[in-house]
Amino acid sequence: MKEKQVFIKKEAGVLMFGASAPGKVILFGEHAVVYDKLGIAAAVDIRSVAEVTENNHRRITVKDKRLDMIQQLTESEISRLKQRVDELRKEEDYESLKQMSKDDIFSPIKYIISLFVAEHGFVPFELLLRSDIPIASGLGSGSSLFASVVSALGDFYQMNLTKKEISDMTYQGDIIAHGGTPSGIDNSTVVYGGYIAFRKSEQIKILDIKQKIPIVIGDTGIGGNTGELVGNVRKLLQQNPEKKKLLDEIDNISQDSIIAIKNNSLKELGALMNKNHELLGQLGVSHSALEKLCNAALQADAFGAKMSGAGGGGIMIAVADDQKKVAEAIEKAGGKAIITNIGVEGVKKIKTDKNQVGG
Ligand code: MEV
Repeated sequence: MKEKQVFIKKEAGVLMFGASAPGKVILFGEHAVVYDKLGIAAAVDIRSVAEVTENNHRRITVKDKRLDMIQQLTESEISRLKQRVDELRKEEDYESLKQMSKDDIFSPIKYIISLFVAEHGFVPFELLLRSDIPIASGLGSGSSLFASVVSALGDFYQMNLTKKEISDMTYQGDIIAHGGTPSGIDNSTVVYGGYIAFRKSEQIKILDIKQKIPIVIGDTGIGGNTGELVGNVRKLLQQNPEKKKLLDEIDNISQDSIIAIKNNSLKELGALMNKNHELLGQLGVSHSALEKLCNAALQADAFGAKMSGAGGGGIMIAVADDQKKVAEAIEKAGGKAIITNIGVEGVKKIKTDKNQVGG
């Protein structure tokens, strides 16, 4: 067995390492991706932050500012958790994994910590978590936080992790949080940033597009049930096989959208969004609240609007020049609006004022 090594410099002073990561939105292709059609996701400029500070208490402390929660972890607790998760994964008992993250929202992060500890030894530190990404809204809040944690811990342990390594470790957190093996869209998007093209039977492609695009997100505040919605679509297609052509139309829209994004053509992008939204409606996954927010955005001169993610509530997105006007219209229609950009940088190190500074 490999000798455990502790890499942390034990010089005087506080060492702090920080990283931030964006959220994600599905731009095109939700539901169709289940049937091997093309999907497009983008990094969205709402970010999570993780900061790691060494300390000389014998424990690892995890503090979540937003949830106002603190947990202290000993070395044996961490190794027990790792053992348990590894057992459940071997047995493919994803139900129990999901239950684990329901019972303890920190369990994916604790598992990520356990991977570092198993490789490099136990070093006490404090991990501070912050995020502006609403939880459980289809914006990749979990993946984003995991990516920030992996990147900051990688620096703390002086590991020089590549993006690929950060993405793979982020996925380890996602497996626990989702209770299964998700598509890989979320971890890839929040780590690499920009725009991602995804087809189940192929590798995820990071699109070579630097363009940032202004959007407004509208949150209905209604939680849709992804599993149920995916099941409903399956039933609909079984009972009405002619509707399978809707999936091909969505695939075409996803392909066309790559050109529209490259050309920075908001008008073309908006038209494609409207079309994709209409098709998702025909698949039965929209919701009256989503319709209301999309219509409000269009009336406020958005170039286009569509639901984003599984639907049945959840969020919609609109592309617009006058983001403020669209945001106001969304709020007036009963949604919670966020003005932001897509196509932004993925996980990155952040400077912290205490970094490498004594005392
Ligand atoms: C949910 O964010 C996206 C869906 O296509 C489900 C999936 O791909 O697993 C609805």
